[in-house]
Amino acid sequence: MADDVPEPRVRQAVAADLDTLCRIEALAALSPWDRSRFEDSLARHRMLVLQANREVAGFAVFREVLDEAELLNIAVHPACRRHGGGRRLLRACRDGLAGGTRCLHLEVRAGNAPAIALYLSEGFQRVGLRRSYYPAPGGREDAVLMRLDLP
Ligand SMILES: CC(C)(COP(=O)(O)OP(=O)(O)OC[C@H]1O[C@@H](n2cnc3c(N)ncnc32)[C@H](O)[C@@H]1OP(=O)(O)O)[C@@H](O)C(=O)NCCC(=O)NCCS
Repeated sequence: MADDVPEPRVRQAVAADLDTLCRIEALAALSPWDRSRFEDSLARHRMLVLQANREVAGFAVFREVLDEAELLNIAVHPACRRHGGGRRLLRACRDGLAGGTRCLHLEVRAGNAPAIALYLSEGFQRVGLRRSYYPAPGGREDAVLMRLDLP
């Protein structure tokens, strides 16, 4: 990266980000969240965005329930992938969890190799499988359940 281009940073999402997040989601997910889901998440959950220069390049949504947390969604704009943004967002979620949180859960399509590679490289373990959980083109797709145990 050139010296005068600032590193991408992660910040809290605000309402003005939602149009961009919907656009990224539409490019990223097989069954994209609609706008109301983002509005609901902004109100009820924790939502972070990846800010690359002036552009929002990705987001992550997670929630905390008692001493556990769940990653609900994460995506990086296709044009911005493989530059460390997904890892940066995931680490920001982990680092933003309340003290005393025991673990971070998620579920991911079994065929989503990029996301599974990211999660495994960040210490998540496979802890279960939900057969035919997701709708998929031409049928259904299994969900892999993963968990990161926190110190
Ligand atoms: C999963 C996703 C968020 C990763 O974002 P990203 O910014 O490209 O990820 P990073 O650049 O931080 O990559 C981190 C690691 O993930 C793994 N990874 C990411 N993309 C990969 C790919 N296409 N193939 C294999 N491994 C990949 C690698 O281990 C990578 O580390 P490396 O670059 O040092 O090899 C992005 O691919 C995405 O938005 N996918 C669509 C939405 C989605 O599937 N979300 C997950 C829902 S559960």
